[in-house]
Amino acid sequence: MSTHIGASPGDVAPFVLLPGDPLRAKWIAQTFLDDVRCYSEVRGMLGFTGTWRGAPVSVQGSGMGQPSMAIYVTELFAEYDVQRVVRVGSAGALSERLRVRDIVIASGACTDSSMNRIRFDGLDYAPVASWPLLSAAAAAAAGRDDVHVGLLFSADSFYAAKPELMMRMVEYGALAVEMEASALYTLAAGHGREALAICTISDHVVTGESTSAEERERTFGDMVEIALAAGLS
Ligand code: ADE
Repeated sequence: MSTHIGASPGDVAPFVLLPGDPLRAKWIAQTFLDDVRCYSEVRGMLGFTGTWRGAPVSVQGSGMGQPSMAIYVTELFAEYDVQRVVRVGSAGALSERLRVRDIVIASGACTDSSMNRIRFDGLDYAPVASWPLLSAAAAAAAGRDDVHVGLLFSADSFYAAKPELMMRMVEYGALAVEMEASALYTLAAGHGREALAICTISDHVVTGESTSAEERERTFGDMVEIALAAGLS
C-alpha cells in the first residue's frame, strides 16, 4: 500500500483512467468496466480495477489541481508500475472556436503553476502528450467536428486573479482551461511513462455558457470511450 492509495502491488492495471472527481471514477467503473472491484477508498479518493473488452483497466480519482493529481500519479508510476495514464476531465473553453460539450485532446499544456519551474530550477519545460496516446485518441475521434486537438492551459486557481493573462494564451493557441494536464505530462516524462489529457467543455469562460448535469454525463461518456480506445491501442 502506498501513502495515498490503499492497494497492493498488482491491484492496479498498467493503464489507468484519471478523472478528478472520485464519484466520476465510480461512474466510469460501473458504466464501462466488467468484473469491477474497488482497490482504494483512502480519503474518499476512490480507485477501481476492472476489464474493458477483456483488457485490464483501472480508474483512479485524482482530486482537483496539480498538487493533488501529482500525489496520485507519482504513486501510480513509482509504486504500482503504471505505464499509461489518460486524464478524463472537464475544462472551461477560452477560444471562440469551442462550444460547450466539445472535447479537447491536449497535445500540450501551458501553465501558471510553479511546479515545473521548481523542478527545472527556473527553466520553462514544454509539457507535451505522449505521441502514441495522442495519435490513437485523434484516430478514435476522426471525423468528429466537436473534437479538437490543441493546447490546454493548466491553471493553479479556478478563480483567476488575472484572467487577461489566460486570454493572452488564447492568442498563442490555448483552447481551454483546466487544472491538471501540465504537471501530468511532466511527471509522465520524468518517469518514462505515457500520459494524455482529454477534457469535455463544461463551461465557456468568454460567453458564460454552461452545461446541465445530464449533458455533462453524456459527453463525458463519449470522452471515456475515446480514452479507452487510445489507452488500449
Ligand atoms: N474545469 C472546468 N471548467 C473550468 C474552468 N472554468 N476553469 C478551470 N478549470 C475548469
